[in-house]
Amino acid sequence: MTVAVRSKISGLGRNVPDKVLSNADLEKMVDTSDEWIKTRTGISERRIADDGVTTSQLGIPAAREALRNAGIDPEELDLLLCATSTPENMFPSTGCAIGHGIEAGDCPSFDLLAACTGFIYAVSIADNFIRSGSANNVLIVASEIYSRIVNWKDRSTCVLFGDGAAAAVISRSDGSSGIIDSRIHSNGAYGDLLTTGGVASRRPVAGRAIEDAGYFLTMKGNQTFKVAVKRMTDVASKLLEKNGLSANDVDIVIPHQANIRIINAVGKSLGVPEEKVFVNVNKYGNTSAASIPIAMYEAVEEGRVKPGDLVLLVAFGGGLTWGATLIRW
Ligand code: ACO
Repeated sequence: MTVAVRSKISGLGRNVPDKVLSNADLEKMVDTSDEWIKTRTGISERRIADDGVTTSQLGIPAAREALRNAGIDPEELDLLLCATSTPENMFPSTGCAIGHGIEAGDCPSFDLLAACTGFIYAVSIADNFIRSGSANNVLIVASEIYSRIVNWKDRSTCVLFGDGAAAAVISRSDGSSGIIDSRIHSNGAYGDLLTTGGVASRRPVAGRAIEDAGYFLTMKGNQTFKVAVKRMTDVASKLLEKNGLSANDVDIVIPHQANIRIINAVGKSLGVPEEKVFVNVNKYGNTSAASIPIAMYEAVEEGRVKPGDLVLLVAFGGGLTWGATLIRW
């Protein structure tokens, strides 16, 4: 009997900045309170990259750790995808800089811009490259420095985001475990819910001109909230149904970590009990594309994901983009 080729996550890595920005620190910067932030978002603190640190520099240690854990040398990589909405330059891409940093030789690389759904988009692409026989090992690095595009005078957004990076090696698997399926979507009709004109996080611009140029992140929080819950629930339900599975079969949901209320609402709509939904938004805030792989890394580290478990990843982000992935661990 021929076993279908599929892909699996063979190694994970994580790198978050040491610098912690607490809600108490934010109270000194804008008119907010620890109580408001915790109640409305579930966030207690977030990490902030030091001045001068680039998106690739944040991603490289995560990439190296993922390769080590997968037992793969950089020259064995067939593709490197960098999921980021805070690239350090428009070009050269952050992926190229990471490839150079980890000595991946001439490995093809590109940046993938799907905001907070970036990791799921990247997993879907990696899985398809592997299933089609075009690649055996793909490195995904999700690295974000939102502190460079957040308006630190806007209390409605600056309390929500943080910086961080994580990486995953996706490898060919001939066994029964691995990535089952993904579904990805976008709809530009919702484009104005979340926007930023900011590019090149390597050289953030300063002064009044950037506000006029639409550099900072803007968000229609209330509308985003409603669309996010509906789209995440829909895509996860359809993905389960397509694969002959139900919410009861899921051992752990690892959702995009934007807001505890969104996470709880999605869990409730899907009918997955709270104890099966992984949460670390309290520690990092929203790290956009890096949020799911950071959460997955920590879920594995904490023993929350065991071999044979059915893992559901689900995300939404600016674009709007949304998607889900099912993995048999
Ligand atoms: N501190 C204190 N008060 C605040 C703050 C703050 N940090 N921010 C807003 N407020 C005030 C508002 O001004 C408003 O005051 P008003 O009633 O006097 O006008 C009040 O709090 C309520 O504001 P709402 O926006 O209605 O609060 P809500 O309960 O909707 O929570 C939030 C706001 C947290 C932004 C929520 O809407 C949300 O989480 N939305 C989704 C955001 C999200 O997940 N984004 C992900 C982005 S993904 C990506 O791709 C980047």
